[in-house]
Amino acid sequence: MSYEHIKVSQEEHIGIIVLNRPHVLNALNLRLVDELAEELERMDMDTSIRAIVLTGNDKAFAAGADIGEMADEAAVSMLIKDQFVVWDRIARVSKPIVAAVSGFVLGGGCELMMHCDIVIASETAQIGQPEIKLGVMPGAGGTQRLTKAVGKVKAMEMLLTGEPISAQEALRYGLINKVVPLESYFKEAVKIARKLAAQPPVAARLIKKSVLKAVDYPLDEGLDYERHCFYLLCASEDKAEGMKAFIEKRQPKFIGR
Ligand code: CAA
Repeated sequence: MSYEHIKVSQEEHIGIIVLNRPHVLNALNLRLVDELAEELERMDMDTSIRAIVLTGNDKAFAAGADIGEMADEAAVSMLIKDQFVVWDRIARVSKPIVAAVSGFVLGGGCELMMHCDIVIASETAQIGQPEIKLGVMPGAGGTQRLTKAVGKVKAMEMLLTGEPISAQEALRYGLINKVVPLESYFKEAVKIARKLAAQPPVAARLIKKSVLKAVDYPLDEGLDYERHCFYLLCASEDKAEGMKAFIEKRQPKFIGR
């Protein structure tokens, strides 16, 4: 598959996607988001891939939706196009996605980061939702996911002032997992992805889905879902192998079934 705005590669069981519009700080035009959704879905179906790393470049993970593309759009044509629906496909990817972010992580870039499951940031990352400065607001989940991640008070501050926060502050608010020096954020993300790729894939998939239920559903529904997933995993070959390996005091060999 050849893409215009993303670069794709694979290292053992890890799929790597690089956002690639550096001349506009990786602004997310419609084509890029389409390509990203398509490749993420492809990787989700590819059994040789068990974890995904999503990154940009040192200067920008992504500076938001492409403003040039939106500037002359009328409300009705945007509504008919319903451009944000494609983001739901990204949210439905069932394999763990590790984001490696650096530099500008703004607007749609911040929203994309929040679609990922683990976030490693370089010390230079500036993370925020500046849409209000353009007279609009987030449209790819920013008001919802940011509030669920950092709480109402901090989300209000970020969304209403439009000012970004530093990587260290994002870490304190639980928006990201780890801050590392610029030269190592990508390596660190791959290291974590390797760990995730070594886990039994079906368990990883059901854990991801269950955690997302905890964020979005009432407790009763989430607990019910978790129990069903737990019982389902008891029918997997990896469960038999994992427990047998523990008893035999050896490393398990997971096959993803
Ligand atoms: N869309 C389109 N082009 C963008 C862009 C964006 N979001 N962000 C940066 N660029 C382009 C600039 O136009 C510039 O292009 P030219 O060289 O052709 O002029 C190039 O990238 C470099 O940008 P700057 O010269 O502005 O770089 P800087 O270092 O001075 O400033 C910045 C960097 C503070 C990130 C600034 O570019 C900026 O404020 N960008 C816009 C950020 C923003 O408002 N994002 C939200 C977009 S709306 C959204 O995301 C909605 C949603 O919910 C999905």
